[in-house]
Amino acid sequence: MIEWPAFHRLNDAQALQGRIDRRLSALAWASLILAAASGAAWLVVVASNMGGMPPISALRGGVVGTVLAQTRFGQVWAIRAALIVVLALCLALQRSTLKHVAAWIGLGAAAAFVAALAWAGHGAATEDVPFDALHLPADILHLLAAGAWLGALLPLVIFLVHARRDSSAQAVNVARATTLRFSVLGLSAVGTLLATGVVNTWFLAGSVPALLGTLYGQLLLLKIFFFAAMIAVAGVNQRRLLPCLDDVTTDGPVRLRACGQIGRNASIEASLGILVLAVVAMIGILTPGLHTEPRWPLPFRLDFSENPPIVPAYPTSFYASTQSYAAPSVARGAPLYANNCTVCHGAGGRGDGPLAAKLPIRPADLTEPHLFAHKVGEIYWWISYGRDNGVMPGFAGKLNPDERWDLINFVLARAAGVLTRDVGSSISTTAAPVPDFAFEQNGAQNTLSQTLKSGPVLLVLFETRAPRARLEQLTRLEDSPNARLHVIAVGPSPATERVPAIVAVSQDVRIALALFRSPSDGDETELMLDRSGNVRLRWTARGAGGLADTATLLADAARVATIPVAAANHAGHAH
Ligand code: HEC
Repeated sequence: MIEWPAFHRLNDAQALQGRIDRRLSALAWASLILAAASGAAWLVVVASNMGGMPPISALRGGVVGTVLAQTRFGQVWAIRAALIVVLALCLALQRSTLKHVAAWIGLGAAAAFVAALAWAGHGAATEDVPFDALHLPADILHLLAAGAWLGALLPLVIFLVHARRDSSAQAVNVARATTLRFSVLGLSAVGTLLATGVVNTWFLAGSVPALLGTLYGQLLLLKIFFFAAMIAVAGVNQRRLLPCLDDVTTDGPVRLRACGQIGRNASIEASLGILVLAVVAMIGILTPGLHTEPRWPLPFRLDFSENPPIVPAYPTSFYASTQSYAAPSVARGAPLYANNCTVCHGAGGRGDGPLAAKLPIRPADLTEPHLFAHKVGEIYWWISYGRDNGVMPGFAGKLNPDERWDLINFVLARAAGVLTRDVGSSISTTAAPVPDFAFEQNGAQNTLSQTLKSGPVLLVLFETRAPRARLEQLTRLEDSPNARLHVIAVGPSPATERVPAIVAVSQDVRIALALFRSPSDGDETELMLDRSGNVRLRWTARGAGGLADTATLLADAARVATIPVAAANHAGHAH
């Protein structure tokens, strides 16, 4: 059990003790009234936002009641309102004989009042993020630590100001005891804030680009800056002034001066704390960094696969595609490419279009593996605003953002198709991703990505007649006891013959998959895809060894199954 406030030991100085008591009581009442008033305003603003109407109408129209009764925010708000009443009662009982009980209940109620905010914030709303269970507890601890630190700072300032004015030896000794107590509280609060702050930053911003490139992230950095300044000021108190005050052998005036300086620094610390709260309030009305595309603010970024590891960057470097890498987007991109890019880059993307020879710089070969080394956000920048040297024009005025992303998906799929031509019967180390696609098999809808979740896929592409005997052989293989291989066969037109492996697909899918076949393949191409959809093995009807026998297929499937699935990045987009 902790001792009662240190300043109540000012036995000989009843007047001073009374003055401090009155100030603290006024501070507590003022804070409580501020909390109640701002809480009421918050409720009305939330209701007016939800109802899409001005605050007055929200009040009159009963939206406030709906919010209170039917939203989690409303429930949390009601609990906090009840806690305000409890706190007011505790404050009113301060001078009664029940004051000790009231103080403990008040402490508990105040902690609950602060912690309850966690349920109103983002902490309770994350989804699909690893270690989700950590977020809410981290939020609660963060709020409690912030409340304890800031909440104790103002009383400390009040006390030190009065102790210094009083200037008696006893006042200085009690100032020492108070400051030492505060320093234990402050250090544990700062430790907790740091640890939980890291957890929360990870959950809400998620990446360096999100921190640097979104307003949300920048405000978070501003908050961290003010917090660091608070720690610096607290550090001066802790390391330089506290020892001076603590040393009973130093002169009275020196200790008194230290006492005054600690008080001044504590008020600077408190002002910085209020700035932190102001930034937190601004952050509160923004969406977390996770959900907006980060505009990269620097002209370079780090890339450790390059030497030197600094490469040029653009504002859109860390943008993620709005169009998923799938057959419909690739098919939409194909005519856009033909109409806008073929003149320079050529129909096949080799950089040999009709205009190419007349240009001062040769257009890039868009089928080289090198294309995959660029971030999609950077390709997006070039297609939108052109290249620095002005030879390649920008298309931002002509194509809308979604069209530009479709174009990128087409260019990537074609490059992956060209890469695939070098893949043979030993596992390839480069990633050539096949776009996702939907198909219908035995009356059920399915997608490639869904099928890949349970193991590798053998994608069979054929041109004219369905290779019935081969497909029946593959289907038997798929059905054999411990095979982890799915067979998906796609032909040139809607299947007329009933062969189990043949799936029904839309024209988009045929356009996209045609990029993964070449005329020299002969009648049939078989591609084994790892669980990320990359082509790892390839056999063709006309190729050197022909198609693989079933034993080889099973052994290869087992090996391809062990290739790790490319991790989706924190924002949930896999590239
Ligand atoms: C007027 C001719 C011209 C047109 C039209 C054109 N490009 Fe380019 N493109 C170039 C040239 C030249 C380069 C090489 C510039 C350089 O190296 O700075 C280039 C470079 C690129 C690159 C960079 C490749 C790399 O690996 O560095 C991409 C991607 C690209 N173009 C895509 C497109 C797309 C998509 C279109 C159609 C929307 C298009 N270009 C239209 C001339 C053109």
